[in-house]
Amino acid sequence: MKTYLRILQYARPLAAFLPQYLLYTVLTIFFSIGNFTLIIPLLSVLFDKTDKVPMQAPDHLPSFKPTIQWVTDTFNYFFADVLTTHGKMGALAFVCGVVVVSVLMSNVFRYLSLRLLAKVRARVIRNLRRDLYHRIIGLQLGFFTGERKGDLMSRFTADVQEVETSVVNTFTAVIKEPLTIVAYFLVLFHMSVPLTLFTLVLLPISGGIIATIAKRLRTQAKQSQKTLGTMLSVIDETLGGIRVIKAFNAQEYIKGKFEEQNDQYARTSRSIDNTRDLASPFSEFAGVSVVAGLLYFGGTLILGGKSALDGQTFIGYVILFSQVLTPAKALSSSFGNIQRGLVAGERVLSIIDTEPAIRDRPDATVLPPFERDIEFHNLSFSYGETPVLHDVNLTIKKGQTVALVGGSGGGKSTLADLLPRFYDPSGGQIFIDGHDLRACTLHSVRDQMGIVTQESILFNDTIFNNIRFNTEATEAEVMEAARIANAHDFIVASPEGYQTMIGDRGGRLSGGQRQRLSIARAILRNPPILILDEATSALDTESEKLVQEALQRLMQNRTSLVIAHRLSTVQHADEIVVLQHGRIVERGTHEELVRREGGVYQRLSSMQTNAALV
Ligand SMILES: Nc1ncnc2c1ncn2[C@@H]1O[C@H](COP(=O)(O)OP(=O)(O)O)[C@@H](O)[C@H]1O
Ligand SMILES: [Mg+2]
Repeated sequence: MKTYLRILQYARPLAAFLPQYLLYTVLTIFFSIGNFTLIIPLLSVLFDKTDKVPMQAPDHLPSFKPTIQWVTDTFNYFFADVLTTHGKMGALAFVCGVVVVSVLMSNVFRYLSLRLLAKVRARVIRNLRRDLYHRIIGLQLGFFTGERKGDLMSRFTADVQEVETSVVNTFTAVIKEPLTIVAYFLVLFHMSVPLTLFTLVLLPISGGIIATIAKRLRTQAKQSQKTLGTMLSVIDETLGGIRVIKAFNAQEYIKGKFEEQNDQYARTSRSIDNTRDLASPFSEFAGVSVVAGLLYFGGTLILGGKSALDGQTFIGYVILFSQVLTPAKALSSSFGNIQRGLVAGERVLSIIDTEPAIRDRPDATVLPPFERDIEFHNLSFSYGETPVLHDVNLTIKKGQTVALVGGSGGGKSTLADLLPRFYDPSGGQIFIDGHDLRACTLHSVRDQMGIVTQESILFNDTIFNNIRFNTEATEAEVMEAARIANAHDFIVASPEGYQTMIGDRGGRLSGGQRQRLSIARAILRNPPILILDEATSALDTESEKLVQEALQRLMQNRTSLVIAHRLSTVQHADEIVVLQHGRIVERGTHEELVRREGGVYQRLSSMQTNAALV
């Protein structure tokens, strides 16, 4: 219920459409009841029972009262009038004419209310997607390593879709159908009290059974959405890793993984459909049974002469009653859909409710432009329970280059990720010019940093837009940045120059070209602080030279934290820090460190020189 109300909140302001919707709905109901009750005078004409009508009809036009009696009296007045002046044929034409007008009106108002509903639905879904997207953008990096991408995608698509269906259904179910049922019953009571009381006893029994079916659907729906998420994750990984899958002849392996999820999804979908499909045959059976009971009961009353009802009114009554079953059925089957929608809604809202672990404090200040130094003070960090960094103390003075080296898994990338606050330290602090980063706004901290990592992250757009990314740079500035990054030549050689589309994640470029575009992007931003995490590690020697050159230019007049796998690339760093198992084990310049007998750096260095000689 809480979830339902919250989803409804996305339709706000309710005042903008609710009164209008109610008006349309009431008018629709009014005219559709009219359609069915007109069968009574029609039968009267056909079976030549018209002598009765003039008796019932008032002899002057009744003044307006908001009652059912007024409506019938007004109709009968005109009906009798036509009957006396134009005879039976005229009366037949009159009734048919009124039916046509009434059907037209009820459908016009139904259409208007559907239009209104479409508007509300579109608004709810747009707002929900927007909130979801904004939340995901705002969440810390750590969230995404814990959450599966496919699961997030399915929340964006399938779950939001499901909410969409449920919102429409709830609207009709919660507002229109009960109103319809109440209005029909008012008319039915007006026609015959004992018959209507009889039906009221039978209806709740079928209602109870339908509620049980709805409950079962809810449990199954939860299962189904989860499986879909896992399946989308597999699809996403497949598309991203298609090259590796083919290279390792792993098609069968990944097919097996996919099929397992696909089968499971098919199984839950089928059992959901089975349950849901049960609702309709069951309610049809229950409905007809009730009508049969009614025919029998009402028939005995009439045949026994115990009822004031005449034949045509009774038929009109039965037809009108059978129409109550439609909204009652819609109401019960939409309960099943609401359950599905609520499960989906909870999945969407649970993401929206996730508070970002890393965000600005209420009193956060703007970090002033970088002046003196960056200081890591007694820094420690763990991913969940696993400690990764211990007691790291490190100072980088403005204009210096500090290199982080050491074996894989030592915590170098983690340390670098702490600087732009992708994660916050578990212990200790990071200061820039003496300002604790956690007291500064995320935006102002990240604004001063440029990051180039091993895998360049590019977007499916033109080369120009990828370099210009989120800046106001002119074309000349973009080209200048590309020149500095050694990228200009290959760009102008591309089919459409700077306007060439680079494909999904830059798939149409070589690794070195992608990397030089990332460097050009960083150059354009012109940040005072640079973080380079194995920026050349993934490249061949040829493009490494081009990229290394570009990096050298990028690093000029900047303060850099460089993580390097190949020690040759950091020989000229002002300080080299060796990280092992999350601790600084050695530090100094290249010359100092190679001379340290038995040191980690010396060992790494000789290993790499030997490898180069082979
Ligand atoms: N997102 C993460 N969640 C949990 N553990 C992680 C995560 N990223 C890295 N680790 C672990 O932290 C340790 C240090 O990783 P990392 O900083 O990437 O090392 P390096 O860059 O020096 O190779 C490794 O043991 C790695 O398994
Ligand atoms: Mg790393």
